[in-house]
Amino acid sequence: MNEPVVRADDIVKHFGTIKALDGVSISFEPGIIYGLLGPNGAGKTTLIRVLTTLLKPDSGRAVVAGVDVIKDPVTARNHLGLAGQFAAVDEYLTGRENVEMVGRLYNLPATEARSRAAEVLERIDLGDAADRQVRTYSGGMRRRLDLAASMVGRPDVLFLDEPTTGIDPRSRVHIWELITDLVAGGTTILLTTQYLDEADQLAARVGVIDHGKVIAEGTPEQLKDQLGGSVVELTVSEDLRVRTMEVLTAVHGDAPTFEPASRKITLAAPQGPTSLTLAVRRLDEAAITPDDIALRKPTLDDVFLAYTGHAAEETPAAENGRRRRRAGRAR
Ligand SMILES: Nc1ncnc2c1ncn2[C@@H]1O[C@H](COP(=O)(O)OP(=O)(O)O)[C@@H](O)[C@H]1O
Ligand SMILES: [Mg+2]
Repeated sequence: MNEPVVRADDIVKHFGTIKALDGVSISFEPGIIYGLLGPNGAGKTTLIRVLTTLLKPDSGRAVVAGVDVIKDPVTARNHLGLAGQFAAVDEYLTGRENVEMVGRLYNLPATEARSRAAEVLERIDLGDAADRQVRTYSGGMRRRLDLAASMVGRPDVLFLDEPTTGIDPRSRVHIWELITDLVAGGTTILLTTQYLDEADQLAARVGVIDHGKVIAEGTPEQLKDQLGGSVVELTVSEDLRVRTMEVLTAVHGDAPTFEPASRKITLAAPQGPTSLTLAVRRLDEAAITPDDIALRKPTLDDVFLAYTGHAAEETPAAENGRRRRRAGRAR
C-alpha cells in the first residue's frame, strides 16, 4: 500500500461522561474514497472534527497529508477541505459570493479566489445558479454549494460529513456523480454515511463505526460477503415467534435474529433463493404461515446486527437483553 494519506491512531475523545471516540484507528491510501459507516451518535462527526483540526482529542495521533493535525493544525488546514453535516453557507449571499469568501479564508488573492470559485461552481453544476442568493436554493443545491466551497482551496483530502443525508434521491445521485468525478481527478475523500448502499456505491474501503469504535473494516464486498450475501426476512404473529425461530435455526444451523421494534425475524441466507426455499419448506412442515417473507440484500442494520449483536437504532435495554442472549450462545 502507498504511504497512508490519512492516519488516525487510537483517538479518544470524551464529552463529559460520554465517550464519543473510544480508541479509533483508521488509515487509508491516497486517491480513494474511504467510507465511514455508522448510525447516529456513532462518533463520525467527532472523528471528522478531530481530523480537520476543529477539535483536540484527549489522546491519540492523527496525520493528514503528512501533517500532524494535532501538533500543527495551521499547516494541516492547507491540505484539507471540509463539507460539514449541515451546510455552512450565508443565506443572503449568492452562491458565488459564498465560495469566493471561503477562497479568501484560504488566503487566496482576490483574483484567484474569483477564478477558482467560478471553476468549482461550474464543476459542481451550479454555474447557472451562482448569482442567486443561497436562500433560493434547494437542499441538494446547498449541499453542492458546500461541496464547492470545500474544494476551493485545492485540498489533498476532502472530508464530507454525511453529504447526502436528508436530500432527495435525485440530488443524491447527482452528488454521488460529483464525488466520483472528484476522485477520478485525483482528490482523496473521506465521507461519512449512515447508508450501506452509499458506502457500497462509492467507497473503495469502509470502516464501520459504532459507539466510538471501529468494529469492522474492509471493502464493501468483504463486509457483505461476511453476511453471507442475502438475508431472509419475515414476520409472524407473536404467539408463533419462538417456535419460528427454532424452526429457522434448523435451516443452516445459524440462529435468526429478532428485532423487537420492527417485529422482523432475520436469517442469514448464504444460498440466496435456495435458502429462502428451504426456510419456506421448514416453516410449512411446522405448519407456520408467516405474515410475510422475503429475500433481500443486507443493509446497514444487518451489518450492525452481525458485528455488534444490536441493531443500529435501539434502546439500551433491548440491546442489553440481546447481548445477554448472545453471550449464552456459541457463535
Ligand atoms: N459537543 C458535544 N458535546 C457533548 N456531546 C457530544 C458533542 N458532540 C458529540 N457528542 C456526543 O458524542 C457522540 C458521538 O457524536 P457524533 O460524533 O456527532 O456522532 P455521529 O456524527 O456519528 O452521529 C454522541 O453521543 C453525541 O451525543
Ligand atoms: Mg454526525
